[in-house]
Amino acid sequence: RIAYVNGRYVAHADAAVHIEDRGYQFADGVYEVCEVARGYIVDMKRHLDRLGRSLKELRIAWPMARKALEIVLREVVNRNRVVNGLVYVQVTRGVAGRDFLFPADTKPALVVTAKKVDPALGAKRAESGINVITVPENRWDRVDIKSVGLLPNVLAKQKAKEAGAQEAWFVDEDGNVKEGGSSNAWIVTKDGFLITRPAEHGILRGITRTTLFEVAAKLGLKIEERSFSIAEAKAAREAFISSATTIAMPVVAIDGAPIANGHPGSVTLTLRQAFFDVAE
Ligand code: PDD
Repeated sequence: RIAYVNGRYVAHADAAVHIEDRGYQFADGVYEVCEVARGYIVDMKRHLDRLGRSLKELRIAWPMARKALEIVLREVVNRNRVVNGLVYVQVTRGVAGRDFLFPADTKPALVVTAKKVDPALGAKRAESGINVITVPENRWDRVDIKSVGLLPNVLAKQKAKEAGAQEAWFVDEDGNVKEGGSSNAWIVTKDGFLITRPAEHGILRGITRTTLFEVAAKLGLKIEERSFSIAEAKAAREAFISSATTIAMPVVAIDGAPIANGHPGSVTLTLRQAFFDVAE
């Protein structure tokens, strides 16, 4: 495998960043994960738009011109012969002696990696669906920034795994579901509405979420952006998660309680199927 690290294509096994990289010391950096399908980077424009927004919020400069970064992403995908898989981009504030304040003349550090993922794995998982657990929200209030500071997400997802689940849903003080540790959360109501929390309310504006709005509109499905409680989710017709790594993935149980008949829902599976026809 080949990785791109600060201007060079290097063997993945030998790729390294400096011990004083601020990403390593302070989680002072941002990232994107894009899906690669049929050799194309899905929704690349939207991912780079969001990367730009994250960088701006943290006052980190683009590590290179956006057009050049697009070329690097495609190059890393091609050099690794990824037809189906993922491409990962990380930008940190760069390398400087440890000091909380922004360094004066430091250039941002850029890492791009790619890996193959067998599409059969996701397909198989979608056939059985996944279990989620709920955990109290304990993250900071800027989770709209896709920062590499993911410790609460790591702990929540590990807890899910130990409970036999594949995702953890963060729940706010009112008992409403926010989002997953690495995905957005959705339900389908008994009258067929797709419900997902408004992106302005303490969640990441998922790219897959945005594209699924378009997919749903094309399918003539009704969407409502509003909060929903754990109780409403447990009583829903369907539930699912969305992310670049899972697309639309059925949720069949929440905290051990099955959703509807405990099988993946047809609306979710239809959305999942249709996603690739709409995404570019
Ligand atoms: N995570 N919410 C959180 C907290 C996320 O980390 C992610 C993505 C999403 C979904 O966003 P998108 O549809 O743009 O992938 C929502 C990526 C996949 C990750 O950290 O691996």
